[in-house]
Order: sequence, then structure tokens, then C-alpha cells
Amino acid sequence: MMIRSVRTYSSSISNAAVFPSGSTVFSLIQPTGKIHLGNYLGALSNWRDISNDERNSESRFIFGTADLHALTSVTDPAKLKNSRREAIASLIAAGIDPERSIIYHQSSIAEHSQLSWILTCLTSMGALNRMTQWKSKAKVEETDSIFGDEILGKTKAGVLCYPVLQAADILLYKSTHVPVGDDQAQHLELCRNIASIFNSTYKSNFFPMPKSLFTANKKIMSLRSSEKKMSKSDVDQNGCLYITESPDQIAKKLRKATTDSIQGRLYFDPEERPGVSNLINIVSGLTRKSVEDTVKDLEYMRSHKQLKDLVTDLIVEEFKDQRLVYEELMKDVSYIDQIADRGAEKAKKIASVNMRAVEKLIGLD
Ligand code: TRP
Repeated sequence: MMIRSVRTYSSSISNAAVFPSGSTVFSLIQPTGKIHLGNYLGALSNWRDISNDERNSESRFIFGTADLHALTSVTDPAKLKNSRREAIASLIAAGIDPERSIIYHQSSIAEHSQLSWILTCLTSMGALNRMTQWKSKAKVEETDSIFGDEILGKTKAGVLCYPVLQAADILLYKSTHVPVGDDQAQHLELCRNIASIFNSTYKSNFFPMPKSLFTANKKIMSLRSSEKKMSKSDVDQNGCLYITESPDQIAKKLRKATTDSIQGRLYFDPEERPGVSNLINIVSGLTRKSVEDTVKDLEYMRSHKQLKDLVTDLIVEEFKDQRLVYEELMKDVSYIDQIADRGAEKAKKIASVNMRAVEKLIGLD
């Protein structure tokens, strides 16, 4: 199947990050459900902008699904299989070009797991214990420690070792830049620590220190309760806007979005006006303008309704073509699988060369 309607951005987007020639830019997304607006503005749209930017033609881009990481939360095989395909379809629909970027599933390259074990042997339990993300997943306090009987009992080792696998993902391709949301800052810091432990243990300069590249867009919050991040597991599904929803559904969710009772001019103040500020953030993300410029653009507005209508229009417009491409792709998943297979072939070439070099360094050749 030929997908002709995918938008390709060959031109440069002025605020997209530009990388030194020869960079390897790497990121994965967990395939745990449908892609929502927060995922799109926080990851996919940025991946598209940087990888299609002509100024980055001398860099390598690798994107995919973290399906091994997803195993820490998804245990339904049919659901995992479908979510992986949905994620690849969303990447393609978003305009990430499989000719320019490698698009693949993490699990199709065995070297991820292999390197992960080697790095696990170099990572201290204390460092993993200091990570806060597994604590929120395990629903325990940030100050709690893995070394308590109750927590030891209810935490799977995979949840604790999750960031080591993430470090292996990044280092396997000797990545230099990793675009992520700021919730991943701690994992990236750990990745650099693991890389330097490896380098000093094996007296080499094998792994470059990967730089975190935080997306300019602020976190997108739930449309219904602005103190929570937009999430597919939100009990109030009106708070979560999926990128494949119809214009009617989008308009409906926006109408129901929580704002405030402050009249008159709309201004950005996440403390005092979290709902309005979240909508302003969405406008800023979709128009690729700074929050300040966005607020200036919105100066003429006097009502929440005007803002909600604008957000609705922008979202409908942004996803109009993407939705068609996505639906077409999901009708015949063989094209999606083909893209992922081709991506895996390219990824495998890099991964196997680097893995062989690692084996040599550690004495397993
Ligand atoms: N942990 C990341 C997240 O939840 C997903 C991820 C897995 C990732 N491996 C990665 C991101 C490697 C960047 C690089 O968003």
C-alpha cells in the first residue's frame, strides 16, 4: 500500500533543534494505549519537526516503540500487539518519514536486552532506589525505599530495572541526543552515569554522553482537572484528547474543558488559572509559538468560549489529515509491519556492530 497523503516537511521549522552533523538522535514511546494530545505535543510533533528539518540532514534519527518497557504494565498480548501498531501508525501519520528516520519496535532487536543485562551488572541498587518514577508507578511515596518488605513484595524487578533498559536503548546506538519530556530527566542522568561507569570500568571512551533534549512544550494537563497530567488512564475520559478523535468529539471535549470564573482578558498563570493556562499551552504547542507570543495573539479575546473555539479549530486542523492516514494504515496493518521490519533491519546493523564492540571490550568476544 502506498500512503501518499502523509505530510512531509522538507522545509525548516525555525525553532526546531539543530544538531551537529553526525549526531544520533534517539527516542522511544511506550506503546501502552492510544496516543493523546500530550504525547503528540510532548514527543511525536517534535520528533517530526527535528527529523524532517533540512538542517539536520547529516544526523541520524531513530524512533520506535518501547514495547519491552510496556511489559512492566501491559500483560494482555492482544492489547500490546495492537498498541504497538497504533504507535507506529501514529508516528507515520504525524509525518515522521520512514525513509529518513528509523522506525522500529525495540523488542525486535535482541541487543537491547543483551546490553541491558551488561549495564545492570554495573548499576547500583542505590541508584535505582533513588529513581522516582517506579515509585509513582508502584504508588508509593517518593521517600519510600525499595528495601522495605512491603514494597519489595509488591514491586516487580522489571519496574526497578526499567531505567537500565532505557539506558541500554540509548547507548546501544551510541546516541548523542535524546528528546524526552522533563519527567525523563532523572532517567537520562542515570543513563549518563551508567555510560561513564562503563567507560571507566572498561577503560574506554566507547559511549558518548547523551544529551537530554527537553521538548519546549510544557506538560499538557487533563482538560478536566488541570492539576493532573493528561493521561489515557484518567477516569474522566473527557480530560484526555486522543489524536484520532473526530472533530465532533474534539469539540465536545473542549466544550467540557474546565476553565475558571475570571472574566475579561485571558492571561497565562498556571497557579491561578490552570485550565486557561493549559489551553494556552496547547495553542502555543500547535502553533509553535512561545507562550508569550501566544498570549499576545490572544489579547483580543474576552471569553473562555473564544479560546475553546480556537483550540478546537487548531486541533481539528492539525489532525484532519493525520486521522485519515492513521485510519488507512490501521485498516491494513501489513504496511505498518513492513515499516517496522524495515526499520528493524536498519537498526540491527548499527546495534550488532556496537554490541560486538561491547563484547570485545568486556571480554565476551
Ligand atoms: N521511559 C520513556 C517514557 O516513558 C520511554 C523510553 C524507553 C525512552 N526507552 C527510551 C525514551 C529511550 C527515550 C530513550 O517516556
